[in-house]
Amino acid sequence: MMSFLAPAADAAAHGGGTPAWAMLAYLIAGVFFILALRGLSSPATSRAGNRNGMIGMAIAVITTLVTHDIANIVEIGIAIFLGGIIGVTIARKIAMTAMPELVAGFHSLVGLAAVLVGWAAYLNPGAFGLLTGDGSIGAVSKIEMGLGIAIGAITFSGSVIAFAKLSGKMSGSPIMLPGRHVINLGVLGAIIVLTALFALAGPGDTMPLIVAVTVLAFVIGFLLIIPIGGADMPVVVSMLNSYSGWAAAAMGFTLGNTAMIITGALVGSSGAILSYIMCRAMNRSFISVIAGGFGADDSGGGKGEPREQRPYKQGSAADAAYMLEQAERVIIIPGYGMAVAQAQHALREMADVLEAKGVEVKYAIHPVAGRMPGHMNVLLAEASVEYDKVFELEDINSEFAQADVAFIIGANDVVNPAAKTDKSSPIYGMPVFDVDKAKQVFFIKRSMGGVGYAGVDNDVFYMDQTMMLLSDAKKMVEEIVKAMD
Ligand code: TAP
Repeated sequence: MMSFLAPAADAAAHGGGTPAWAMLAYLIAGVFFILALRGLSSPATSRAGNRNGMIGMAIAVITTLVTHDIANIVEIGIAIFLGGIIGVTIARKIAMTAMPELVAGFHSLVGLAAVLVGWAAYLNPGAFGLLTGDGSIGAVSKIEMGLGIAIGAITFSGSVIAFAKLSGKMSGSPIMLPGRHVINLGVLGAIIVLTALFALAGPGDTMPLIVAVTVLAFVIGFLLIIPIGGADMPVVVSMLNSYSGWAAAAMGFTLGNTAMIITGALVGSSGAILSYIMCRAMNRSFISVIAGGFGADDSGGGKGEPREQRPYKQGSAADAAYMLEQAERVIIIPGYGMAVAQAQHALREMADVLEAKGVEVKYAIHPVAGRMPGHMNVLLAEASVEYDKVFELEDINSEFAQADVAFIIGANDVVNPAAKTDKSSPIYGMPVFDVDKAKQVFFIKRSMGGVGYAGVDNDVFYMDQTMMLLSDAKKMVEEIVKAMD
């Protein structure tokens, strides 16, 4: 096993073993990456986590540049400069609400890079130290290459579809092909068989086999993601994150780079754990999500369907301010609309005013509120909301029965009771906040016509104790604060 690990390949490729100091540097980088993941597990330590990640990456990149004669340093410098300009420009321009599609877009690049590295190694195996005594590529190297190309291609085409769905360039509803499970299993089986044939083939022409693996892997990435829609997209984003990690690890084997293998495995496994946690939060089976649309409703949710006209109560900022001041316990449920409106600072100000008047204010965060894991936590932290006032679904859901006001700001699907009662709903089975148990519900959204991500109507709008506050979230909260003054 050890014989085909990175250092050996590296040694063969570059006429000597990776120096001991470089192996130690890669190990230290790996430790920093583990500390980064540890830090990112809580909002309180996430900045330190990010810092550790950057230190680890700097160590890994510098060590690779110093020890590897991979390309002319001027070419590398130009690539880093151009990549840096593109990265900084995107980071400055990107709206917080577009982060999920940006992440999906970046994952697609990792996948494509894995495909290109695999192909480069196939076309020029000598440069990668992959040639055996008889001048052919070793079977183990061919398995690594085949896997790297296959995982990379699946990551690429899957991420492109996720990008298109999340950015609205393609319908977010599931697209169900007839017989899709049989087709998917057939294509996956074919990829495995062709990779095995590629690995076992002699020095003859293996080109058709590796071309077929590449094409089929691109196709299966596409097929796996198109039937996923509605509430399952968050799981897909973290799953593609995991795939991109495994693609990077496979690339690490081909390139003989230990740091890449460690980093890829960390990203791959942490992404897989996150996908599992999100599936649990959504009450979905992991297998059903990755198999693509198992059990999903073929109608693709309720987007665009005509909406029933039902009576609802609408209030003003002054009404809300008056009732909030009378309350003893208020639970705020932020959602995607708060991010769109950038209302977190105004919200914090409103909570400060209420707390000064003796009202207890807590924040309830659903695991998939917003459009990316931790989206709401990041926004509330940006507005300096104390972490001990922020609660997860399972820790706060029982408190709605004692709350005077459930203050819903830009959330929708995460408070929709259809998830508990309507088997035909695309969000059926997802745990939601029991806002109907609160004495009073305030619901901020811009219009009665707008729907949440899953595109379905919400009974909470029409409850007796609900007051709709129809406005941009930031504007409404600012007006409430003004009215309380
Ligand atoms: P959504 O269900 O998407 O609802 C957003 C609400 O915000 C809508 O009611 C919308 O109504 C309102 N809104 C939009 N802009 C607004 C503004 N400027 N001011 C006031 N309101 C505004 O949000 P949610 O409850 O956070 O649910 C998240 C959904 O996204 C879930 O279905 C989840 O599965 C999905 N999703 C989550 C993720 C992750 S990882 N978190 C990733 C992808 C998808 P109006 O248009 O009428 O204003």
